Amino acid sequence: MRGGARAFWENGAMDMPEFLHAIPKVSLHLHLMGSVQARTVVDLATKHGVPLPEYDEPEDLYDYPDIYKFLHMYDNSALAVIDREDFHRLAYETLTDAAAHNVRYREMFFNPTTHMAAGVSYETAVDGLIDGMRDAQTDHGIECRLIAAVNRMETPELAVTMVETMLEHPRDEVIGIGMDYAEAEFPPERFWKAYRMAGDAGLHLTAHSSEDAPPRNIETCLDLLGCERIDHGYHVVESEAIMQRCVDEQVIFTCTPVSTAWVYFGNDLDNHPIKTMAARGIKLMLDCDDPPMFKTDPSKDYVLAYEHMGFGVSDFRRFMLNGIDGCWVTDDTKARWRSEFTAEFDALAAKID
Ligand code: ADE
Ligand code: ZN
Repeated sequence: MRGGARAFWENGAMDMPEFLHAIPKVSLHLHLMGSVQARTVVDLATKHGVPLPEYDEPEDLYDYPDIYKFLHMYDNSALAVIDREDFHRLAYETLTDAAAHNVRYREMFFNPTTHMAAGVSYETAVDGLIDGMRDAQTDHGIECRLIAAVNRMETPELAVTMVETMLEHPRDEVIGIGMDYAEAEFPPERFWKAYRMAGDAGLHLTAHSSEDAPPRNIETCLDLLGCERIDHGYHVVESEAIMQRCVDEQVIFTCTPVSTAWVYFGNDLDNHPIKTMAARGIKLMLDCDDPPMFKTDPSKDYVLAYEHMGFGVSDFRRFMLNGIDGCWVTDDTKARWRSEFTAEFDALAAKID
């Protein structure tokens, strides 16, 4: 591994937060626009003359009472990302930050139609992101692939257009589609056509599901849309039958404690459904969703899950392996990562106080 992130514990014992920072990670649930530092939003808004809400410190921009206001800020930031080098900057910065938390591989959501609404072409966005991903890999050793996410608050027709645009401009780095924005009033079945088109073209499929809606959305995503993973899925705990099915079929859930405790679960991590999901045998991994926008980072979600959900070393080892199983990489790569990551994880675990 490159960089100096390891130095502070190299000669001695470490506590649990240090351990959780140090362990190797894959990241399967992170949104590009949610991962932009507030000062970068201010820089780009200044560069392009894009208005922002009033603020004293840039971080004040990231303060909102509910998901709709959060998404409003998310879209406002996106209006300030115009040039290919802006996209390079966003990808490079979020991956540099991830590498400092020992993230080795990320599959990152971005919203093509959000950028296209700001007048940016799909190719400009995607090629700028790929530029940043390549530089981050060279400088920090972190690998990244892209998932184009359907904004479910827009029309099914626009989602089809998004997939058509992707297929007209194929890039090796763009490996799947997802679905995000607010779920409650925009159920997944609206998007069956876009998912069918993407699946037929060989793209991987995932969707935010049952984040803020009944567990039947999970079955819709698995059976109608053909999803290989479920992003969030917390309301699965409300259906014994669907939960058992997901356990039996070893469906991978990508869960984000901090961002969803704040929005949906009364900011109560101690009673977050992730605890029950793990106890019932759901195959889940942890990630950080929109880190600066929810005042978290790739290690902090793990640390808070440790402090509030009672997870121990063996749980985090399982979550790490679940994440590897969920990656859209070859079986050979997964086998190599399983052996490399577990060796590193176990050596670190031996140093815990
Ligand atoms: N970014 C876009 N949609 C999101 C969602 N539903 N949850 C978290 N971050 C998002
Ligand atoms: Zn998300």
